[in-house]
Amino acid sequence: MKILALVFASRREGKSVTLQVTEELCGLLHARSAGAELEIVTMSELPVLSCVGCKTCFQEGFCPQDGADGMAALRQKLRDCDALIAATPVYMYSVSGWCKNFLDRCARWCHVFELLGKPCVALSVTGQTGAARACDYLSECLETMGCCVAARLPMQRQGEGLLVGSEEAQAALSEAAGKLLDAVRQPENYLSELAEAQFQALLRSFRSIETFRTLMGRRCPDEVDTFRQRGLMNCASLREALLKKGGSAT
Ligand SMILES: Cc1cc2nc3c(=O)[nH]c(=O)nc-3n(C[C@H](O)[C@H](O)[C@H](O)COP(=O)(O)O)c2cc1C
Repeated sequence: MKILALVFASRREGKSVTLQVTEELCGLLHARSAGAELEIVTMSELPVLSCVGCKTCFQEGFCPQDGADGMAALRQKLRDCDALIAATPVYMYSVSGWCKNFLDRCARWCHVFELLGKPCVALSVTGQTGAARACDYLSECLETMGCCVAARLPMQRQGEGLLVGSEEAQAALSEAAGKLLDAVRQPENYLSELAEAQFQALLRSFRSIETFRTLMGRRCPDEVDTFRQRGLMNCASLREALLKKGGSAT
């Protein structure tokens, strides 16, 4: 089993609290899952440029920027892993710029459920405020790509809430590790209502685009073709698509 941890921190290795908390979670996962391969990737290794808004991904199925930064390698790692930890520091009440760049560059994946069934933990670390907001946002973006978020961990260094280093935080990390491993076995138990609603909206929209384009003798955007090729056009729900696929994303 491969577990990938993406740490969207800007501070250098060793200094980032987000990285330290992620390492702690990885340690717990290592202890519980003999033989699991854990990989932590930081933005200093594979930086991600911002989206340029060309929409080539939706229309043509590829990102012209992928050759210029670490995104192509990240995409492959995401496809290859059996479970994912996504961890961001909180900047201005939200996810870090690195994290936002990454999520923007994954926008097409929300339309084709690229990570359908991928078990995941969303983690945010703040000084004092904004952890829940950032963690919820990160988690919801992952859910719309099809990820099965087993746990949300909004953590802070001071003030009220889940304090980094506290017994309560240790217990939450341990519980998250257990849930992530459970989601590897039964991802369908963690599929979100948000992802299901997103699926229903896309299904309606893509069906009408396909009908219209076929009538006009024009080709469909790549995302619509991919939706069909993945069998999603013929599913009544995302849950059905996940079960047909046989559970976890590979
Ligand atoms: C640009 C920037 C914006 C920040 N915004 C917030 C914020 O909105 N709320 C807060 O409590 N802390 C904020 N912080 C503090 C970080 O969340 C905190 O230092 C966190 O530990 C950073 O993660 P790191 O240790 O992994 O680098 C901010 C820090 C930076 C550098």
